Amino acid sequence: MLKAVAFAVAASTLAVALVVAHPVKAADKPAPPATMPVPADYREWQYLTSGIDMTYTQAGADSLKTEHQSVFDNVFVNPEAYKVFKQTGTWPDNTTFVLENRKGEAAASINKGGRTQNADVSGLEIHRKVNNEWAFYVRGGDGTEHLLPRPASCYTCHEAHAAVDTTFVQFYPTLLPIAKTKNTLSANYLKEMATPEAATPAPAK
Ligand code: HEC
Repeated sequence: MLKAVAFAVAASTLAVALVVAHPVKAADKPAPPATMPVPADYREWQYLTSGIDMTYTQAGADSLKTEHQSVFDNVFVNPEAYKVFKQTGTWPDNTTFVLENRKGEAAASINKGGRTQNADVSGLEIHRKVNNEWAFYVRGGDGTEHLLPRPASCYTCHEAHAAVDTTFVQFYPTLLPIAKTKNTLSANYLKEMATPEAATPAPAK
């Protein structure tokens, strides 16, 4: 009994010490989780687009001129978020996007021109709204997705150029008309549309 009381006192002293060392303001949001598993069923989510060989510097940049293998990026969003977007043109909390890379293959099977997608996923990135803030996750060597802390070019480019709430809705053909109708296009995107030279991202540092 005495032991228990002594323990309780020690524990509460420790708790006070911790609170003093890390004052927590009521308004502070919990940080996004450091890792997240790849959603098992993302391939059954809402499909949005397949970008191919996208590059964000000037036209004809080296990546496109030099000998390279085409890369597709297939974008999916969770069905619950898609449903809300259709109604409102905005993304609810816990919206999760998966961008999946697959290398392009030439001359597979009967194909004589153009490119088809390889069976192996060569990269996977996640963009997720957690506690109403967007976080990026990239795949680590251990196969799980790791949070990319700020600052990172992902945040800079998406915040500066994306059409709706840091997501690239301008490239998702079924979503752009909804955002237009609901009037939810970002101020940055509208400015870029009015002055196209604003659309060239600053060179990566
Ligand atoms: C220079 C601009 C730029 C940078 C830097 C960038 N992205 Fe993107 N991102 C894009 C574009 C453009 C798209 C649309 C892709 C498409 O249409 O296929 C996109 C789409 C995405 C998507 C799909 C959901 C969405 O938000 O539209 C994810 C996930 C994503 N990027 C993750 C990342 C991660 C992780 C990083 C950093 C490692 C990153 N991006 C860096 C331009 C950028």
